[in-house]
Amino acid sequence: MKYKGETVVLAYSGGLDTSVAVAWLRETHGFEVVTATGDLGRVKDLDVIQKKALKSGAKKAIVQDVRAIFVEYFVWPALQAGALYEERYPLATALGRPLLAKLLVDAAREEGARYVAHGCTGKGNDQVRFDLAVGALAPELTVIAPMRGGMNMTRDEEIDYAKARGIPVPVSKKSPYSVDMNLWGRSVEAGVLEDAWGAPPRDVYEWTVDPDEAPEKAREIVITFREGIPVALDGKDLDGVTLIEQLNKLAGKHGVGRIDQIENRLVGIKSREIYEAPAAVVLHLAHRELESLVLSKEALRFKSKVASEYADLVYNGLWFSAHHQDLAAYVRNTQRFVSGEVRIRLHRGTAVTVGRRSEHSLYSVALATYGKGDAFDHKAAEGFIGVFGLPLRNQARTQALWGEDNAALLQVPKQVASRSGPRKK
Ligand code: ARG
Repeated sequence: MKYKGETVVLAYSGGLDTSVAVAWLRETHGFEVVTATGDLGRVKDLDVIQKKALKSGAKKAIVQDVRAIFVEYFVWPALQAGALYEERYPLATALGRPLLAKLLVDAAREEGARYVAHGCTGKGNDQVRFDLAVGALAPELTVIAPMRGGMNMTRDEEIDYAKARGIPVPVSKKSPYSVDMNLWGRSVEAGVLEDAWGAPPRDVYEWTVDPDEAPEKAREIVITFREGIPVALDGKDLDGVTLIEQLNKLAGKHGVGRIDQIENRLVGIKSREIYEAPAAVVLHLAHRELESLVLSKEALRFKSKVASEYADLVYNGLWFSAHHQDLAAYVRNTQRFVSGEVRIRLHRGTAVTVGRRSEHSLYSVALATYGKGDAFDHKAAEGFIGVFGLPLRNQARTQALWGEDNAALLQVPKQVASRSGPRKK
């Protein structure tokens, strides 16, 4: 056995795959297995998971509640950045992986292990995120991925393998989907969802009600931000974990937060994903809304480019990169004025902004008003337009862009000219 006496730290979820992997790593490779489990929200019971890891043959099972760290160091920075992959996916799974990888690396160092392992398959993004994060934090470690090669068991084989070793086998029926979840969202794929034309069956959704069955009456909520971080819901100060949990429930009850997306995986395939992310959807909406009030036009435009770059790097597993540090520094600096409140109306699957305010607001009624107290200098507009339009007039004189010959280029109908004369009676 190649690894006899070596220790490997395995990212352990408590599910069948990773439980079998504990035994398999021991028996086939001779590893001593230490498991590491992090609760990013939605892990049912860490004690149960710990016992199960030991039953599966781990010599030690580390479990940690890292929800607050997840929110403060991963979720909030991504929210501040406006990071939505391909404009929609709030990146719940993608944000969780680097933190789980960090737990693996920390545990490996404590245990003096030279190997870490995870249960990701060879087709998804998650393997890339684990491998890259471990490589960036601890290039001296070697990553083992039994599901990517070696273990090769069908589900029935895994069940037999587990039963033969006294490893608890799930009693509930297996979900027909592949699901990953944490505080920031639920990711569902595979099964009948692979038919991109088929509407997702009811049983896909667990956090959100069908908008048809959501309350008839809308609910208005107020979210308070301090420097780009949500700090209160309806005027009540809440820690990040609680705020996200409450908002998941509240918005989910109104059918808000469903995303059905064809996305481009890093490994080159398109996949159909269903996400449920009620809190993330509402918070991204509210945050963007507040930014539109306090950031300049240039800052908003530039920041939206950074947002898509940031989302890509998170999705692609480059969390622990210098590029991320640099973008995060920019994002953080932009948030110094992003304090204030946003009013959102939740109703039957929709979340719509109905109000926003901030002490740093750049919106000025005196400048915007068409009513009394208008402070905008209408006369000055003439001079402004004269200069702004100078290049166009100059071009018109020298290049005759819109003459007869060129009009067809931009499909301006010739008749426009003849029609624009005085109307015939
Ligand atoms: N497609 C999403 C992502 O790459 C979700 C992956 C979900 N993982 C899973 N094991 N179901 O981030």
